[in-house]
Amino acid sequence: TTGDTTFDIGFANTAVCKSAITYIDGDAGILRYRGYPIEQLAEKSSFLETAYLVLYGELPTQEQLSTFNDDISHHMVIDERIREMFRIFPRRSHPMPVLSVGVTALGLFSEDTIGFTEEKLDAATKRLMAKLPTLAAYGYKNSIGSPTLFPDYSLSYVENFLRMSFGSVTRPYEFSDEVTKALDVLLILHADHEQNCSTSTVRLVGSAQTNLYQSIASGINALHGPLHGGANQAVLEMLDDIADRGISVQEYVNRVKDKNSNERLMGFGHRVYKNYDPRAAIIKKHADAILRGHDGNDKLLDIALQLEEAALNDDYFIQRKLYPNVDFYTGLIYRAMGFPTDMFTVLFAIGRLPGWIAQYREMQADPTNKIGRPRQIYVGEKERNYVAMGERS
Ligand code: SDX
Repeated sequence: TTGDTTFDIGFANTAVCKSAITYIDGDAGILRYRGYPIEQLAEKSSFLETAYLVLYGELPTQEQLSTFNDDISHHMVIDERIREMFRIFPRRSHPMPVLSVGVTALGLFSEDTIGFTEEKLDAATKRLMAKLPTLAAYGYKNSIGSPTLFPDYSLSYVENFLRMSFGSVTRPYEFSDEVTKALDVLLILHADHEQNCSTSTVRLVGSAQTNLYQSIASGINALHGPLHGGANQAVLEMLDDIADRGISVQEYVNRVKDKNSNERLMGFGHRVYKNYDPRAAIIKKHADAILRGHDGNDKLLDIALQLEEAALNDDYFIQRKLYPNVDFYTGLIYRAMGFPTDMFTVLFAIGRLPGWIAQYREMQADPTNKIGRPRQIYVGEKERNYVAMGERS
């Protein structure tokens, strides 16, 4: 306690807001966006339709969806000066900080949409939804020294992102319905997740009346951490490491259990899910469909499946309720699509964008909302007097 106030320690299990967007039951492994189970949305919806639901609270009519699709898919082009900006970054720059800078720059070129009226927030929402995939693709193209492509408005949102990421003028991107559908489903599964680290960051930064672009850029930075969205990259690095060193899965599991190793089974465990992450169950099915028959990925998928089997039958993980989370299988699919590991968290960010924006707008619309300002337990020195230099030891 401090004075006569008792606090829970840590930003770990604190209800920081009321929200109507996403419901999670961590013990039962339930996830719903605006009341709709994730399993139904993954099977029947599209990413832009789910983004509409998360943002506006209801499934769109056909006319609303067509208008939303046009507002987003036909505005993916970015200002030439932002496109040029990517050229100043060192080639080896990780695409997540590049994306964060790109979003901040987008805000600088979008003065007309900065503000807190419904009209300005909606304009900024559509601008961010439309241009984040383009910023992501340009960050990737810059990192491999390849020329960028303008969006092709005859394509869908996901097709455009894939083409801008992998296509070139001399080598057109060859679409596969299986890959396009799998990426659309993965984006649906990442659309929101209540008060995770990056969403809480967007809310906290936005609570100071910081504009939407800069708040989203803050969320991108939080997501990059390997304990959060960066885990999908860390999972692939872990699987590659096991494969390259030729160690057995059990050997690796034993190392994780050894407290001195300071290793974690990346893609496992969750602050809220103390059961199988419902997203991981859906992704695992897609991983099997996409990866079987792709040599190399086959081997990593088998290692992942063996790791899951070993952990789910090991008391260390059972006692700590550690199950696969959303990041455990996604990286395998992203790699099979052709993305390098450092682009995996960028894909997470594209999926999470509608959730970040919806949570920011829900907060701004709440008349009781105040600037976030948590308290602390002071454990430092009691009052003491200044010591002259000559008297210090
Ligand atoms: C995401 O919050 C969200 O909703 C996030 C997210 C979203 O959609 O936004 O779901 C996305 O971030 C998923 C999580 C991705 N991160 C990883 O996969 C990294 C590996 N997982 C962990 O580091 C960990 O499980 C966390 C960070 C996810 C959760 O950590 P907690 O709740 O703070 O748990 P903890 O660190 O207090 O661990 C409790 C115990 C410890 O052992 P003991 O001290 O009791 O002996 O479980 C152990 C930990 O050592 N533990 C693990 C482990 N995770 C926890 N041991 C081995 N491998 C792991 N992965």
